[in-house]
Amino acid sequence: QTIKKINRGLFIALEGLDKSGKSTQAKLLSQKLNARKVSFPDRTTQLGLIISDYLRGNNNMSDEVIHLLFSANRWEQHTSILKQLQNGINIVSDRYAYSGVAFSAAKGLPIEWCKAPDSGLIQPDITFYLTGPIEQLSQRGDYGKEIYENSSFQYKVGNIFDQLALQENFYKINALKSIDEIQEEILQHIQEKLQNVNQLQLKKLWK
Ligand code: TMP
Ligand code: MG
Repeated sequence: QTIKKINRGLFIALEGLDKSGKSTQAKLLSQKLNARKVSFPDRTTQLGLIISDYLRGNNNMSDEVIHLLFSANRWEQHTSILKQLQNGINIVSDRYAYSGVAFSAAKGLPIEWCKAPDSGLIQPDITFYLTGPIEQLSQRGDYGKEIYENSSFQYKVGNIFDQLALQENFYKINALKSIDEIQEEILQHIQEKLQNVNQLQLKKLWK
């Protein structure tokens, strides 16, 4: 099916637990929407390299410092995302500020503190939240390579994501469904969301 055109690009975020299939879906969706795909952390920048080292357990930082680096790594892309949306380019984001909150709050940092540095970033038009039983997701390939990929921590992250899902109106998806079923469900929801709109206002996150 074709996706309806509006006055600017659509900004879609995919969020969820590690190994929930976000990256696969982000890739398929960006092809379908002819969109630019962005990923956070964006490991290609200097900040991204520091974050990547941290995730592999190669450098130790306080929870606050790594949280702020993840946020700064989103701000690095802010202007380019904004401009592209205004120019009619769709953007699909593999993780966004909600991951920032979920993972840091799962370590015990206050949710409001976690949101503050991301306040003012562009708010996604639609956020999909892929989730499923951690016992099953943890069986998927490569699990355990990075420091957050352990079941007891993912369980806490899942709880915060569930909380955010209600507050932020995420569209929840069962990550155990097949790749094709999930992609279909995502496209279906985007269609429905656009059915009665020709204009969408760009909004700022947590302002
Ligand atoms: P990735 O597996 O999608 O590349 O993400 C790497 C890890 O970083 C993943 O465990 C989630 C975590 N993360 C944060 O803790 N804070 C953030 O702001 C983001 C974007 C990811
Ligand atoms: Mg990962």
